[in-house]
Amino acid sequence: MNLQDIENGTARALAELAAAEDLKALEALRVRYIGRNGLLPKLMQGLKDVPAADKPAMGQALNRFKTAVTDAVAGRKAALEAAARDARTGSLDISLPGRWARQGRLHPIQQLIDRTTDIFRRMGFTVANGPDIETEYYNFDALNTPPDHVSRDLADTFYLPGGLLLRTQTSAVQARYMETRQPPVRIVCPGRCYRRDTTDATHSANFHQIEGLYVDEAVSLADLKSDLDHFARELMGPGVRTRFRTHFFPFTEPSVEVDFSCHMCGGGGCRVCKQSGWIEIMGAGMVDPNVFAQVGYDPEAVTGYAFGMGIERLAMILFGIDDIRRLYENDGRYLAQF
Ligand code: DAH
Repeated sequence: MNLQDIENGTARALAELAAAEDLKALEALRVRYIGRNGLLPKLMQGLKDVPAADKPAMGQALNRFKTAVTDAVAGRKAALEAAARDARTGSLDISLPGRWARQGRLHPIQQLIDRTTDIFRRMGFTVANGPDIETEYYNFDALNTPPDHVSRDLADTFYLPGGLLLRTQTSAVQARYMETRQPPVRIVCPGRCYRRDTTDATHSANFHQIEGLYVDEAVSLADLKSDLDHFARELMGPGVRTRFRTHFFPFTEPSVEVDFSCHMCGGGGCRVCKQSGWIEIMGAGMVDPNVFAQVGYDPEAVTGYAFGMGIERLAMILFGIDDIRRLYENDGRYLAQF
């Protein structure tokens, strides 16, 4: 036995393995070359008769032989098995259903924030933001809300230490924005709001609103009505009508609640609008002069309108979602339909 014999043997063994026609033939070759009574153990035994000087090189050559044969057996085995599989099924089964890559999509709440802000952008509004953690001043005082007003109640508002709270309405952005700018002001402010509501089908302690504010010389209630009328048609379709009912908010005078005609029945009365033909969408009104005074605007020189609406409510109405909680359960299968 010399080195050259081993190299030649390795080459021959690899050629035979590569040509093995089936698993049985392959196994026979494996046994012949590296099995317990195969060639390799025999050659290993022969090592003891090799002159000491040649032993290391011979030993290494035998190790290379073993590795090469082991790898070749594994490689040929995988190839034969794959071929057997393809022979059974065909390499391409055109009757298999396709593999769909599920597409990501925007959450319905984000979709509606985008849709509403886009409509107001086209009407000349820009987007403004404020913090979720707000001061009592911006959330209530600056909005002409008396100290004993119900909305300040501990049972309604999440108070934090140090005069802070989780804002209960995006109206809080109004004074923040006006205090550092001069009129004209035309902004919408989408964002999260928080109230100590017990969660049920229509309430959530965390929800979203979008606020609107337009201040300039001679802004009138007629502007409010026509702009919201336009918004309603852009959002719901050309057939939608609006209705304004008198109401009260501390920061507007006069105040209104705005209904849209029911998009399901067109106003005739159905389950969705509880037979009334109308759906309440938002609060609005003419900015109270006291709010202007707080931010240093001259109530004699400017007027303005403001409005605020709940995004979840809009989503539920537009998408026919019957339970607000479905919007937060993050069940991708449910949300994927919108
Ligand atoms: N902030 C009110 C609420 O959360 C909604 C609202 C009413 C906003 C009238 C306004 C407004 O800007 O003028 O119920």
